[in-house]
Amino acid sequence: MVKKNTCVFISGKGSNLKNLILHSRDNNFPIRISLVISNNKKANGISYAKKYRIPYAFINTKNPNYENKILLNLKKHKIKFICLAGYMKIISNYLIKNYQNKIINIHPSLLPKFKGLNTFSRMLKNKEIKAGCTVHFVNEKLDGGSTILRKSFFINNNDDEIILKKKTQKLEYKALPEAIIKIFRYT
Ligand code: GRF
Repeated sequence: MVKKNTCVFISGKGSNLKNLILHSRDNNFPIRISLVISNNKKANGISYAKKYRIPYAFINTKNPNYENKILLNLKKHKIKFICLAGYMKIISNYLIKNYQNKIINIHPSLLPKFKGLNTFSRMLKNKEIKAGCTVHFVNEKLDGGSTILRKSFFINNNDDEIILKKKTQKLEYKALPEAIIKIFRYT
């Protein structure tokens, strides 16, 4: 199996990035993390790129030419697949067109419920029974592309935002690798 050169986009903690790096060391896992792009110079996730010797780039999205910079980096590293893992910036249509059906995102809710930010506080306010995460393809609509897979759990009466986040992230560490295996299962 030829591993697909993959870029992970991050903005912060990078725990999903770390999890993907560890999975990608398995010969049977379909992707290789060949590049990390961050829009935040101080993102903790960059430390994982350094630790595992993965090329990384900081791209300032305030720069009017930033989309081209992203594309140039992707081309330079022959990137075939993109994972958004806590990337807090909306991906431009320009990039989506260049990577049609090749960009996925992990979102901390059971989409189509709770698109956007502050998912956990909205779930609690809404007295939801279940929480979870969704891995989906990225299209022009925010958190709107087709779903690859979801994982859910029942919310307990004493779950607060912090606990919900912890439980959701635990599921994310299973969901994202599983989704990637599912996408490439016949290739
Ligand atoms: C995850 O909870 C993901 O669902 C959301 O951002 C968070 C990123 O966490 N999109 P980390 O940076 O991977 O730790």
